[in-house]
Amino acid sequence: MNRRVFVCLTCNRYAPPPEGQPTPGQRLAAAVKAATATAADPVTVRTVVCLNGCPQPCTAALREPGKCVIRFSGLTTDDAAALIEAAALYAGSADGDVPTEALPAALRGKVAGRVSLGAA
Ligand code: FES
Repeated sequence: MNRRVFVCLTCNRYAPPPEGQPTPGQRLAAAVKAATATAADPVTVRTVVCLNGCPQPCTAALREPGKCVIRFSGLTTDDAAALIEAAALYAGSADGDVPTEALPAALRGKVAGRVSLGAA
């Protein structure tokens, strides 16, 4: 099963860190990588430049071809383990449209968007 989390490295674009310091998005990506390094079912962390959640950094998303996209905003490094858990739920779902109430509690208030693939 392909478990992936996409994390925006450019968050927070409105408050860049001092020169040489990691962005909050870079810290979040590092936290997810560290947390998954010892997980029984690790996830792949894909880093990207912007997930269109800029006003509410940090942002991450779950996406796979043919599945609903779920985007989370307002994330911190404290959400790393919850993102890994959510990625497992997402990977195990048929369409990716994991109900908010089924997500880890830490993420339920941080679902910023869903893009479902409806029938044409
Ligand atoms: S800069 Fe992170 S979502 Fe746009």
